[in-house]
Formats: sequence, C-alpha cells, structure tokens
Amino acid sequence: MKIFLDTADTNEVRKFLDAGLVDGITTNPTLIANSGRNLFEVITELSQMVMGPISAEVTATDWQGMVTEGRKLAKISKYVTVKVPLTFDGLKACHALISEGIMVNVTLCFSSTQALLAAKAGATFISPFVGRLDDISINGMKLIEKICNIYANYPSINTQVLVASVRHPLHVVEAAQLGADIVTIPTKVLEQMIKHPLTDKGLESFLNDWNSTGQSIL
Ligand code: G3P
Repeated sequence: MKIFLDTADTNEVRKFLDAGLVDGITTNPTLIANSGRNLFEVITELSQMVMGPISAEVTATDWQGMVTEGRKLAKISKYVTVKVPLTFDGLKACHALISEGIMVNVTLCFSSTQALLAAKAGATFISPFVGRLDDISINGMKLIEKICNIYANYPSINTQVLVASVRHPLHVVEAAQLGADIVTIPTKVLEQMIKHPLTDKGLESFLNDWNSTGQSIL
C-alpha cells in the first residue's frame, strides 16, 4: 500500500522523506490556506522533493473552469494530480482532463455510487473521506470495503482507491486489510504509526545493559 502525506507543510514532508515513507502528497484548499503560502510555490516545491503524485485542487465549480485551472496546475510538474470535487461538473472535468493525459484525483467522495461514476469518468485516484463519515456516525471504512469490492469486479477499472480523511492508525490498518491502493495521512498519524511504548521500553533496557559492559562499537 502506498502512503501519501496529507499536508502542504514542506518542512513536515522533509522529515519523513529520508526514511522512504512518502510516495506522494495530497493537498486541498484548506491545507494550502493553513500553510500561509502560495499554491504554486508549495506544489512546485513538493514536486521537486517527493517526485511522486502531488494533488493540487481546483477551486472553480463549473467544469470548464475546472479544466482551465487543471491545465494550469498540470503545467507545474509532471507529478501534479489535479483534484476535482465529486460533482457532475467535477466528473465532466475529470473526463476532459484525463483525455488530455492529466492525472485526476476525484475528491470529496462519500458513497460507492459516486466512486463507481468516478471510475467511469476515468479518474486516476478516488478519495473517499472516511473520517468525515465517522464524524457523523457512518462507518467510513465500510465505504472503502464496498468500493474495493466493486472495483475488483471490473479489471477494466484502473482507478486507484486513495483513502482520505484518515484520523488514526487503525484507519490505515483497515485500509491495508481491505486492499486499498493508497492512504493519505496527516504527519501526526504517521508519527503515531511508528511509536510503540514497548519499543521505547525495550530499547532503553538494551542500551542500559549495553552501557554496563563499558564497550563501544566505534
Ligand atoms: O485529503 C482530504 C483530507 O485533507 C480531508 O481530511 O480531516 O479535513 O476530513 P479532513
């Protein structure tokens, strides 16, 4: 399973790149606003750092406007994936941009019918928002299960399931168990995935015992 970071904070991304943990990045207008930086500067920097799919979201709501914005975003880098919302105009824009060879991530997906139509429109990635469904007492991972099952019935579907709105490590575990292609996660969740108190305790114990030998490896 691929791991994307869901952030526009290039400093945060840099921390995890060296460990080979980052396969791509997703941003959205909120994350760009939170970064306090220019969209084009951030996407350019992320493309140079990660060299994997970088999602940049359009802000137009009409399909022609989405296509115009998407073409401009795609010019930033070959890694740019244009994010469009799962609306009728978004599906039309997706179909148009895909036909021009531009990668498209269809976002704000909340149902399996939406995901089926995004695949029909040729989306490169579909982003179901599991956390926001959980927030209203609907099991978000059940949606992922449905989408993975539906897509598996049709080998002609090449759309990759990109699990988004991830709130904690168990979302990542369930996504992997269901066979989702990608999770996009906040850096906080990635840090939680690494940490375990027994690892810290065991390491402390090893080092204390090693130090008692008075030896040094170097
Ligand atoms: O990529 C979509 C993601 O940023 C949305 O997450 O936590 O705002 O639902 P959240």
